[in-house]
Amino acid sequence: SPSDDALRALPKAELHLHIEGTLEPELAFELAARNGVALPFASVDELAAAYDFADLQSFLDLYYATMAVLQTEDDFAELTRHYLRRASEQGVRHAELFFDPQAHTARGVPIETVIDGIGGALDEAERDLGISGGLILCFLRDQPVASADRTLSAALTRRERLLGVGLDSAEVGYPPSLFQDVFARARAEGLHAVAHAGEEGPAGYVVEALDLLGAERIDHGIRSLDDPALIERLARDRIPLTVCPLSNQRLQATPDLALHPLHSLAEAGVAVTINSDDPAYFGGYIADNFIAVRDTLGLTSAQAEAYARTSIDASFASDARKAELR
Ligand code: HPA
Ligand code: ZN
Repeated sequence: SPSDDALRALPKAELHLHIEGTLEPELAFELAARNGVALPFASVDELAAAYDFADLQSFLDLYYATMAVLQTEDDFAELTRHYLRRASEQGVRHAELFFDPQAHTARGVPIETVIDGIGGALDEAERDLGISGGLILCFLRDQPVASADRTLSAALTRRERLLGVGLDSAEVGYPPSLFQDVFARARAEGLHAVAHAGEEGPAGYVVEALDLLGAERIDHGIRSLDDPALIERLARDRIPLTVCPLSNQRLQATPDLALHPLHSLAEAGVAVTINSDDPAYFGGYIADNFIAVRDTLGLTSAQAEAYARTSIDASFASDARKAELR
């Protein structure tokens, strides 16, 4: 099977990464001190020790609390710069970054501060590291639809910065159908649409994301296996799933990685990609996910190359850029 270095060297696209989920404890404490924000932990070690999650919600509680240290445009740029340097070392050549504007505007941070900070660092990475990419604005599904609607309107002042919209945060009880109108408005602006579905929620949420939101990719989607007709549809229509093995393990969606459905999905003909979700919290970046898969499920060189190639094909990069990356 392929070496760690071989897995890092494979050119890949990162399609499921929350930029706020790349906030490492060291940077969190540095920004907390710089901005005079109190963290509910005394030290880097104490914060890192809290990364022991029972489910999605227990992670989200810590994720939203810690990101309060992000205040200025430069904070968002620094966070993104740190991530893109690590991503480059892990073989990422194209990165589509999720961000959660409502989690920042609720704290009084203007959406322009968020978008300009992350976007500026992406521009630098394109120039200095040869990484292409863009931003996908995620609506928080556990917040009111009216808030999502206002967020989209505010973000459209930076329309040229956005690749698309997505849907994240607490899943169960917040079906995609709630967000049908705001997704329709985003698509009318020419934005791509993706959605988290079938992480903790049922396969029916994946169907809703496809039918009602026009989702072009499904983030996670592992619960699709409960519905054979849906699996057939995903395969037939080449709807990619952005799967995150270490995240699924840490959030107890699939506590035993050796039983993870990654290969089963691929063998059923679904376009499956390997991604990192919130790498600072879940124990690894994208190549670390490939390595964990190799060490638990097994991963041949041919399989690793296929997953990496699928990530490029499933990206929103231009055809010319995809040809360059393959
Ligand atoms: N699921 C839902 N919302 C999220 C996640 C996730 O894995 N990461 C950050 N926000
Ligand atoms: Zn996610």
